[in-house]
This record gives sequence, structure tokens and C-alpha cells, in this order.
Amino acid sequence: MTTSLANASPSPVSVPSYADIQSIVADDFEIMDKQVFGSLNSKVQLVMSVSQHVINAGGKRMRPLITLLCARMFDDNPSEKAMHLAAITEMLHTATLVHDDVIDESGQRRGKPTANATWDNATAVLVGDYLIARAFNLLVGFQSLPLLQVFSDGTCDIAEGEVLQLQHQHNPAATEADYLNIIDGKTSRLFMMATQGAAILQDKTEYMQALGDFGQHFGNAFQIIDDVLDYSGDSELMGKNLGDDLAEGKPTLPTIKALELLKDTDQKGYQQLRVAVQTGKTPNAEQLIALVRDSGSLEYCKKRALEETALAQQALKTLPDNRYRQGLYQLTELASARLL
Ligand code: IPE
Ligand code: IPE
Ligand code: MG
Ligand code: MG
Repeated sequence: MTTSLANASPSPVSVPSYADIQSIVADDFEIMDKQVFGSLNSKVQLVMSVSQHVINAGGKRMRPLITLLCARMFDDNPSEKAMHLAAITEMLHTATLVHDDVIDESGQRRGKPTANATWDNATAVLVGDYLIARAFNLLVGFQSLPLLQVFSDGTCDIAEGEVLQLQHQHNPAATEADYLNIIDGKTSRLFMMATQGAAILQDKTEYMQALGDFGQHFGNAFQIIDDVLDYSGDSELMGKNLGDDLAEGKPTLPTIKALELLKDTDQKGYQQLRVAVQTGKTPNAEQLIALVRDSGSLEYCKKRALEETALAQQALKTLPDNRYRQGLYQLTELASARLL
């Protein structure tokens, strides 16, 4: 399994490993993982091949882990429905990745060639659509309108986040507020669904707000960190191509902040970076990446990610205090440890 969290470099503070956190719900996790595979039952062989290709490639299964921890936090003996819902969140996540790799023209995901690179864009888009449709197909089985409501609202927001991102591609004037709007949709929304879905299943809807806050802030922190790592991470550890964001003219927080900082300190660098975002042409990619790194932007992003992590941890305080809540806390610590 490609696990960039599990492989995160050893941190100086004592942060449990991803496997440690997973082991808190080991049995549930195993059932969920089997269901992720077992839920694929298309009669069309190509749908099966493409879906299995992406799902077999691994991934951390972090969103389902969040659902499983939340379900146990509310009830030490949750019904099998929790594992089933967790598997559905992974299916939706996988669909967003398959679509994302088409949009980002990415060649590598989870250490393997992407679906678009292995087949083609049309196949990847259609199979991504199938995975979303299949997820809803399975959701209907819960016969819970509130659950369907949360998942259908959330899935609309995810799609809107991706479209918003597309609108801002090549826009060097994009602001941090624009960026937050994008990541709220494309990333954090699914974290919220993963937590709130568990509360609905366990009939603990009084915690919806706290879970929503946790999911949103943890998702924001996670995406900011991912965007920092696109400038400073290790492609092999992450299992995906890095440096893609700038090459695609994607104004992520590292670029947005670098432009703001360079504007006052280095006009030449500022203009170079602006043109790179506008055109997506980066013949001097290494120099531009160094420009972003040296601008002080990544330090700002790390500070923002830690602030988001602190807000996520704050939200946890109002939830039932047990080892599962502790697991959620540790997950946020582990994610931010990737920055150290
Ligand atoms: C990747 O998510 C997409 C982002 C939100 C940055 P993950 O890093 O959780 O990807 P997998 O599931 O482990 O492959
Ligand atoms: C996250 O955006 C993708 C989704 C939330 C669908 P990125 O484009 O940063 O994700 P990676 O880096 O390709 O995993
Ligand atoms: Mg991408
Ligand atoms: Mg990324």
C-alpha cells in the first residue's frame, strides 16, 4: 500500500504511526477494506478493470478510517453499517482522484500509472462517474434520507470545488480566500461527510456541528500540507508526481503567498512566477520552485496548516472522550508531522 502518511519521515516529537492509529479499529478496517473491493460489481469488464486498477494500487484509506473511528467513538459496538459507509467514502474519494488525475494530467497515483495514463481520459472520466453512481447506489441501501442528503449535498460541493479550481487555473490574482473556497469543496467536504455520516448512522446528530468543524479544518490542513509537499516533498514517498501544481498554472497557497511576498521584495521573481501561473509554461521549473521555497511562502503555509490542525483538535474537545477520539487527534498530529 502506498502510504505517504505511514511513510512520513520520523518526527522528533512522539507521534504514533499510521499503523498504530489503524490498529485501534483493526477489525473494522479489515472488513471495510474487503468491502471496498467487494462493492465493485459492474457487469462491464472495463469498468471493473479500471476501478480495480486504482483501488488495488492502495492508498491510505484515511477517509474510511475517520468514519470508523467516529462510529466507534459513539458506540463501542457499531453496526456493520459503519464499515459499509466507510467503504463508500473511499469509493467516492477514489472517484475524485480518478477525475482529478484527468484534470491535472497526472501520470502517477499511489505509486502506479494513473487510469488516464493507462487507458485514456474518456475512460477515466466515465469510470470515475461510475464510481460516484455506484457509491450512491449503495447509499440508497441505508434507507436514510438524512444520510443521502449529507452525501448528495457534499458531492455537489466537491464537484463545485473542482470547477472553481479550474476557473482559477492560470489566475495569478487568485487570493487565499479563493484557495480556501476551492479546498473546502474539493477536499474538506469529504472529510466532513466521513465524520457526519457516522453520527447519522449512530443517531448522534447532536454532534454534527462539531464533526463538521473537525472535518473541515482537518481537511484544510491536509490539503495545505499536500500543496506544500508538491513543492518540497518526495515523489517516491508520495506515490505521485510532484511539482505538477505550478506546471499546471494552479494557484495553490504556496504560489499565492509567494506572489504576495515577492511583489514587495523581488520584482523580477514576482514577474517570472506570475507568468508561470498565467501560462503554465515552466521551462525553468527548478528555479521557480526554488523561488517559491526561498520566498518564505512555505513557512507561512505550514503556519496556516498548523492553525487549521489546532482548530480541528479544538472541535474534537466537545466529542465523547475515549480512545477513538484520541485516534482522530493522533491522525491530525500525524498529518501535520509531515511538515516537520
Ligand atoms: C489525496 O488524498 C488527495 C488530497 C486530498 C491531497 P490522499 O493523500 O488521502 O490519497 P490516498 O487515498 O492515500 O491515495
Ligand atoms: C486534491 O487535489 C484532489 C482531490 C481532492 C480530488 P490535488 O490535485 O492537490 O491532489 P493530488 O496532489 O493530485 O493528490
Ligand atoms: Mg492532482
Ligand atoms: Mg496535490
